[in-house]
Amino acid sequence: MKKITITSSFSIFDTLEELPNEIQNLMSQAVEIRKKAYAPYSQFKVGAALLLDNGKIILGSNQENAAYPSGLCAERVGIFQAGSIYPEAKILKMAITAASDTNQTQVPIPPCGACRQSIAEYEIKQDTPIEIYFMGEIGAIYQSASLKNLLPLMFDKKFL
Ligand code: THU
Repeated sequence: MKKITITSSFSIFDTLEELPNEIQNLMSQAVEIRKKAYAPYSQFKVGAALLLDNGKIILGSNQENAAYPSGLCAERVGIFQAGSIYPEAKILKMAITAASDTNQTQVPIPPCGACRQSIAEYEIKQDTPIEIYFMGEIGAIYQSASLKNLLPLMFDKKFL
C-alpha cells in the first residue's frame, strides 16, 4: 500500500479592492447578472462572468425549473454560452458570486461538482488554465489559479 497526497492552493483576498481592476470589473458584472438569476425555488442566486482571450465577457446566472434537475447552475450557463458563441476563444478568468434572498451569504461559494467537471472540460480543451474567483454576497474572495485545484483526480477524455 502506498499513499499519495494531492495539494490544492488558493489565494484569499479580504476585499475586492485588493484585486486588480480587471477582476473587480469581472466580479461586478457577475454581481449584476446574479441579480437577474431565475431562482424562484431556492432563492439562491448565482452569477458568473467569464473573460475570454478575445476580450469578450460572457455572463450567466442560474436558471431553475419546476422539475428541479432541469435547471442549470450559473457557471454552466456561462461556460456553455462562451463555448457556443466563441468556440475558438480561450477562457482566461471566471468570477462567481452567490447570494441568498433569505440569509446573507458571507462566505465564498465554490462551484458545485457538476460545474467543476464542466469547467474542467474547457480547461483541457484549451490546454491553458482558467483562473477562478469566487465569493458570497459579501466577504472574502477565493482565487484558484486553475480548475485543477478544485477537482483533483479529474475524469477527462484521456480515459476514454
Ligand atoms: N447553483 C449554481 O448556480 N452554482 C453552483 O455552483 C451551486 C448551485 C444554483 C443551482 C440552484 O439554482 C441554486 O443555486 C441552489 O442550489
